[in-house]
Amino acid sequence: MKLGNIEFTEQQFDVVIIGGGGSGLRASLEISKSGLNVGVVSKVFPTRSHTVAAQGGITCAIASADPNDDWRWHMFDTVKGSDYIGDQDAIEYMCSEGPETVFELEHMGLPFSRFENGRIYQRPFGGQSKEYGEGGQAARTCAAADRTGHALLHTLYQANLKAGTNFLNEWFAVDIIKNDSGVVSGISCFDMETGEVSIIKCNAIVLATGGAGQVYEQNTTSLICTGDGLGMVLRKDLPLQDMEMWQFHPTGLYGNGSLMTEGCRGEGGYLVNSEGKRFMPDYAPKAKDLASRDVVSRCIVQEILAGRGCGDKKDHVLLKIDHLGSEAIIKKLPEIREISMTFANVDPIENPIPVVPTCHYMMGGIPTNINGQVITQDSNGNDSIVNGLYSIGEAANVSVHGANRLGGNSLLDLVVFGRAAGKHINEELPEQSSSEVSNTNIEESLETLIRIQETKKGESVFSLRSDMQNVMQNYFGVYRNEDLMKEGIKKLEDITERTKKIHLNDKSGQFNSEKVEVLEYLNLLDIANATAYSALERKESRGAHAREDFPERDDENWLCHSLFFKDKNKVSKRAVNLKPKTVETFKPKPRVY
Ligand code: FUM
Repeated sequence: MKLGNIEFTEQQFDVVIIGGGGSGLRASLEISKSGLNVGVVSKVFPTRSHTVAAQGGITCAIASADPNDDWRWHMFDTVKGSDYIGDQDAIEYMCSEGPETVFELEHMGLPFSRFENGRIYQRPFGGQSKEYGEGGQAARTCAAADRTGHALLHTLYQANLKAGTNFLNEWFAVDIIKNDSGVVSGISCFDMETGEVSIIKCNAIVLATGGAGQVYEQNTTSLICTGDGLGMVLRKDLPLQDMEMWQFHPTGLYGNGSLMTEGCRGEGGYLVNSEGKRFMPDYAPKAKDLASRDVVSRCIVQEILAGRGCGDKKDHVLLKIDHLGSEAIIKKLPEIREISMTFANVDPIENPIPVVPTCHYMMGGIPTNINGQVITQDSNGNDSIVNGLYSIGEAANVSVHGANRLGGNSLLDLVVFGRAAGKHINEELPEQSSSEVSNTNIEESLETLIRIQETKKGESVFSLRSDMQNVMQNYFGVYRNEDLMKEGIKKLEDITERTKKIHLNDKSGQFNSEKVEVLEYLNLLDIANATAYSALERKESRGAHAREDFPERDDENWLCHSLFFKDKNKVSKRAVNLKPKTVETFKPKPRVY
């Protein structure tokens, strides 16, 4: 087929899943097993998806470490961790369904570490408690050494091969196609190896495109984490939720950004400042180094601002694990040892690891219900479901993490809601509609691709992207205030203006990585704007959103989600669901650790 200058092929699946990480593969497995024809479109080979980098584990009340553990305690911790803007129906669903999904993974062959009695190993992680916060630290994170994501992703990929899932590996998805009646009907994409453009028609799309950590200069995420699904949603005039909420992991490797798992502190490691002092007990007397991530990151920044940072520049702190002994480090934290030896020239068996808070996770995303169905809001503030469009995993905001995610809850979110979306699609696949796609619909979906292919001169993606990342790092980081953010927004406006003249230098078809980087950057820039305007609008401090000019949480005005629409950079509010189905509401309380 040909439209204008663009030639394209056509393909058809019942369901297209964009993204081959943990959530996409869990959904595709569920759908493939039901006999539907599902295609996974992944810009990298699936086992290279960012899930592979998850280290510490998958948090779930399977009661290995403590036979009395209870999913309701996990729910309490998660609601508290979210600073009360996690939806309690979704958190209830994740925590109560969790054990079944973890045991399913075990039965698929995921090589979990084990206790002596043979049960799955669980380690303590930040923000975990027993007895609704009254019973001390819990150990609830199920681990495969410090390579849990790697083990999980390979297990799911193999299960998908067995189930007959179709893979379009190293294909880049550009945009969602809606037909003239506004029904979700397919996607436009291209094969990165050959440049072949394709229109894939389908009856349901699942956006499992992961996070967008590349929006910040320093981050723990893979280069592929560019929020492609979020860009697609914004271009279809659909909103993003809670985009001001970004998690800075307390222990990114200084100078490199690689994750130094919270499992280091779970196994007994702790943070020290330039005076060699363990400082967390001064800030969080009960939980100490295992307070939740937003809290620990702010404490590190305060230590640095007080002049107690380490190194020549006094701009980081040290993570000490040498006292755990070589045997424990080699058995439980082998990857951490390897990464710090390779990238920081430090053997943690002998010396502490230099670390600094680093952007790690996007709590915000595409609003969905617990079936993964995408939600939008009309001008009167009423919610509605976008039929045929689903989102899961880090791309989605269901919302189980609210203003701050607890460690190990990401892998759980991926598999619980990947499975839930798969089940929902199996039961309610929308009626055949994809045949109604018109040439105009297709042309619209290829508009960006055509535009960048036709540029003759202008600015390169590389300078634009690095300027955007620099603005996000310096104006929308751990601490924020109105003057700083307004200055940041001005800079983003300038970058947005410059981006209109972006130039694609390389017009070739095969393995054109510049073309991919331009498309990824356009998605990132939309996400940067969503973050900036949502952050300016939320006039309080909650979870990861710490405002110096509004230092307190304001439940009267802000116990709600923010919704960002690309049109006029509008931000509106959406109610938080405070009503779980089987337990009482966990009412907002001061959040202390
Ligand atoms: O620290 C970690 O291992 C990260 C886990 C997570 O983000 O869930």
